[in-house]
Amino acid sequence: PYPIYEEVRARGPLSRSTAKLWVSASHDICGQVLRDRRFGVQMRAEDQRSGSPQLSFLEMDPPEHTRLRRFVMPTFSPKAVASFDGQITEIVTGLLDAVPAEGRFDLVAGYAAPMPIAVITRLLGIPDANSAEFQRYGATFGSALGGLQSLKHARELFEAQRQLRRIFIDLCELRRTEPGDDVISRMVAAPDTQVGPDDLVPLCTLLLIAGFETTVNLIGNTVLALLERPEAWRRVAEDPSLVDAAVEETLRFDPPVQRTARVAREDVELGGLRVAAGDVIITMIGGTGRDPQVVDRPDEFDLDRSHRDHLAFSAGLHYCVGAPLAKLEATIAVRELIARFPDLTIDGPGRRRAGSLIRGLASLPVRIRRS
Ligand code: HEM
Repeated sequence: PYPIYEEVRARGPLSRSTAKLWVSASHDICGQVLRDRRFGVQMRAEDQRSGSPQLSFLEMDPPEHTRLRRFVMPTFSPKAVASFDGQITEIVTGLLDAVPAEGRFDLVAGYAAPMPIAVITRLLGIPDANSAEFQRYGATFGSALGGLQSLKHARELFEAQRQLRRIFIDLCELRRTEPGDDVISRMVAAPDTQVGPDDLVPLCTLLLIAGFETTVNLIGNTVLALLERPEAWRRVAEDPSLVDAAVEETLRFDPPVQRTARVAREDVELGGLRVAAGDVIITMIGGTGRDPQVVDRPDEFDLDRSHRDHLAFSAGLHYCVGAPLAKLEATIAVRELIARFPDLTIDGPGRRRAGSLIRGLASLPVRIRRS
């Protein structure tokens, strides 16, 4: 997608794509749009009618947005998340122990994908999260984020949506009588005025999908960037404190969520242009990380950058609630992988996932040489 962002940028920081649609790959303009309350997200209600999953407060403007976001925030605050460190490390260690002692394995299917899924399902307290059905529903749902791909996909999505709804309704019921130490138990215990029963299923779905479909790509994209640059891989292997920099640089250089959008709630003057109420702006997050206005040598992956002002987790009201968790997961996953297999190499071409919204790998064959 990166050459496309360059083309967009060549047309100016903000340009019109069609009558009511604008595009921007400028870090400055996208940052402004995402932080400006005169832009909202409400147009996504129309997308929903076309069959996309409902994603709770990600698709709401204040005041509904505020109520639900405030409710989940404490669970995912940096402090709360730091306490998951032990659980995450345990999950990662278990996955690494299962990797064959020597030879080839798929880094995505064998490591990057199951790890965040295990974490989010554990946090939500979902029993049987390892079942093949549950994994399939989650994957079908997640793949719908970039839009429906075929009629077959639409049918699968409908079925997955029905099943997940059932699972979450049953689970909410169960946690009302048998609360545990999980997010759903907290939600059902809250007074009805805060979070009603109709909020619960979309909220669970949002948290589940956010955990299923994003962090896997941050882990995969970071490992790929390092393995493609043996010098960078070696430096991180020798100095694990650089893992943090590698994850941050990947969020700039190759972020899992490539774009989002906002709708103008009133006429807005932006970059010298007039955006009319109702117009939509596509903010190309993946392009903003390579904006030469704010980053030197933008197409170079560089562990020594100090630039941390990327928009990979968006900005403003909808700034990713899971950012501290995602960063912690990716840091632990990459650190433990390199510590265990410092001699890992790429072994054959990987495959990118379909769609342009989520950027990541469907597979990455790697080889372990044990010394
Ligand atoms: C929102 C990216 C992981 C929960 C967002 C948005 C982005 C994003 C770009 C905002 C979209 C917009 O402004 O329109 C990412 C990336 C992740 C990640 C790149 C991993 C590397 C997670 C995880 C969770 C999560 C693990 C689990 C809790 C959420 C929620 C929102 C959100 C609840 C909605 C926030 C709101 O609308 O106020 N994420 N996310 N994310 N993310 Fe994440």
